[in-house]
Amino acid sequence: MSNESAIGVFDSGLGGLSAVRELARLLPHENIIYFGDTGRVPYGSKSRETIRKYTAQDASFLLSHGVKAILAACGTVSSNALECIEALTDIPVFGVVEDAAREAYAASKTKRIGIIGTQATVNSGIFKRKIESIDVRATVLQCACPLFVPLVEYGFTAEGDEITRLACERYLAPFRGEVDTLVLGCTHFPILEKAISAALPGVTLINPASEAARAVAKTLFENGLLSARKGRGEIRYFVSDEPARFNAEGKIFLGKDFAIDAKKIEIDKF
Ligand code: DGL
Repeated sequence: MSNESAIGVFDSGLGGLSAVRELARLLPHENIIYFGDTGRVPYGSKSRETIRKYTAQDASFLLSHGVKAILAACGTVSSNALECIEALTDIPVFGVVEDAAREAYAASKTKRIGIIGTQATVNSGIFKRKIESIDVRATVLQCACPLFVPLVEYGFTAEGDEITRLACERYLAPFRGEVDTLVLGCTHFPILEKAISAALPGVTLINPASEAARAVAKTLFENGLLSARKGRGEIRYFVSDEPARFNAEGKIFLGKDFAIDAKKIEIDKF
């Protein structure tokens, strides 16, 4: 591992690209290795035991590339299995919960905060505990929105998409008038930011991937681990199933500046 090693990022699928986009903006000289476990998505409806097994394999794959830090760009992993990565390595390990919870508390004027995430994230109660540990009087309302994950993976992301609008209406109506801030506690959800915002006008949305990317940048800087490279870093993508859909959907999400040519790997070997 050296300063020129890559930053490892993973998620169950496309969602973690929200962190890649932010990392590439903050740290353009860094190499990034991204793994999307497209063969086993979604994680959020799986048992804690399965999520922990998948997490250890995903992290082992990234470690096999000698990465200098790992960002679990997945709310489900961050809330159920971060310690499984820490048990494998001494390099810095980041999730998407800690900083988002702090940012949500700071952003909220009423201290009435909503959390949306996968079923496994909501069941873990981690965002609620973190916010209440800052201020026990804060009110935290939670709702699992599992259908948002396939909507993103299957590309129902165009502005005004009717199916996504209805899903947002159904899941988010209970938050209306109840919260002034909403944590998008699953990294797939920022991709639906416009539709979520339309269902909850005036509510501040917290993107956990952006907060986590800032934490990665700060730690690498403070520990002298930033690359000295002058030009742009390289981003390499790996997936555990046929890459065509990931390449197509990922490109729409990351924008035209990013070329995605993911390679398929056998994650079961890790
Ligand atoms: N993007 C993920 C998360 O942040 C996982 C979604 C899923 O696989 O269910 O929770």
